[in-house]
Amino acid sequence: MGNQTTTALKNMRNFINLLKPKSSPVDLDPILKVIPELEQLNSYSLSGIQVLKKLYSLGQDVVNRKIPGDFVECGVCNGGSAAAIASALGNTERKVWLYDSFRGMPATREIDGSEAAKYVGRCVGAEEKVREAMRIVHFPEESCIIRKGWFENTFNEPLPRAVSILHIDADWYDSVMLSLKTFYERVADGGVIIIDDFGHWEGCREAFYDFIAQRGLKPLLERFGHTQAFWVKGRVHNREFTHRWDIP
Ligand SMILES: C[S@@+](CC[C@H](N)C(=O)[O-])C[C@H]1O[C@@H](n2cnc3c(N)ncnc32)[C@H](O)[C@@H]1O
Repeated sequence: MGNQTTTALKNMRNFINLLKPKSSPVDLDPILKVIPELEQLNSYSLSGIQVLKKLYSLGQDVVNRKIPGDFVECGVCNGGSAAAIASALGNTERKVWLYDSFRGMPATREIDGSEAAKYVGRCVGAEEKVREAMRIVHFPEESCIIRKGWFENTFNEPLPRAVSILHIDADWYDSVMLSLKTFYERVADGGVIIIDDFGHWEGCREAFYDFIAQRGLKPLLERFGHTQAFWVKGRVHNREFTHRWDIP
C-alpha cells in the first residue's frame, strides 16, 4: 500500500473516531450513574439489568409524586428486584415488606399451563441473600420486613397499612390472585402495581384479568420487557405527560 493511501486511511479513521461518543453507553446511563450498585443486583435476580432499572424508576416515581405507603413484594427469591425498588426508597420513612416461601415455586393447576408444572420446587431463594442484596443498596435493615412462608399463611400476619408500590412476581394463578386480593385495597391512589409475569405465564395473566373483571376495574396497563406490566391506581389517561418517553 502506498504512503498516500495509508495516510488517507489514517485520516479517515481519525475523523470517524472524532464522531464517536467519548464515553461508553454504560457511563452515559443516568440511572447507573446515580445507583451503580444496581449492576451488582444482576446476580440476585432472575430479571436482567434493564428490568431492574425500570423497577428502580418506578420506585423513584412514587417517591417523586409523594405517594404515601410502603413497598410490598410478593415473590422475592434472592432479593434482586426487591433491592432495586428499595434503593429508590432509601432516604424515606418507607418500609419494605417481602413475602416468599424460600422453598421454591408451589404446585401448579391446569390454568397455569403444562410448561409451568416443570417449575414446581424451582427458584429457591434464601433470606440471607435477600439481606445481602439490601446491604448492597444500603437499605436500612430495620426497615426491611421479611415474611417467610406460604402466602396463605404469611398474609394472615399484620400487613402494611398503606402501600405505594406493589410488585407481584409470583408466577402462578393462585399466588398472583391472592397477592392482588390481599394488597390491592391497601395501595394508595396513585400507587403503582407491577405484575412481573404478565407476558410469561398464562396463569398470572388469567389471574390479572379475573381480578379486574371481578372488581369492575379497567386499568391503564403499561408494559415493559417481554413480560412485565404495571398500572397506576386511579389513572385513567396519560395525556398530561410532557416527557412522553419517560416511564410514567
Ligand atoms: C420468579 S421468583 C421471584 C424472582 C425475584 N423477584 C427476582 O428478582 O429474581 C418467584 C418467587 O415466588 C415465590 N412464590 C410463589 N408463590 C408463592 C406462594 N404462594 N407463597 C410463597 N412464595 C411464593 C417463590 O418461592 C419464588 O421465590
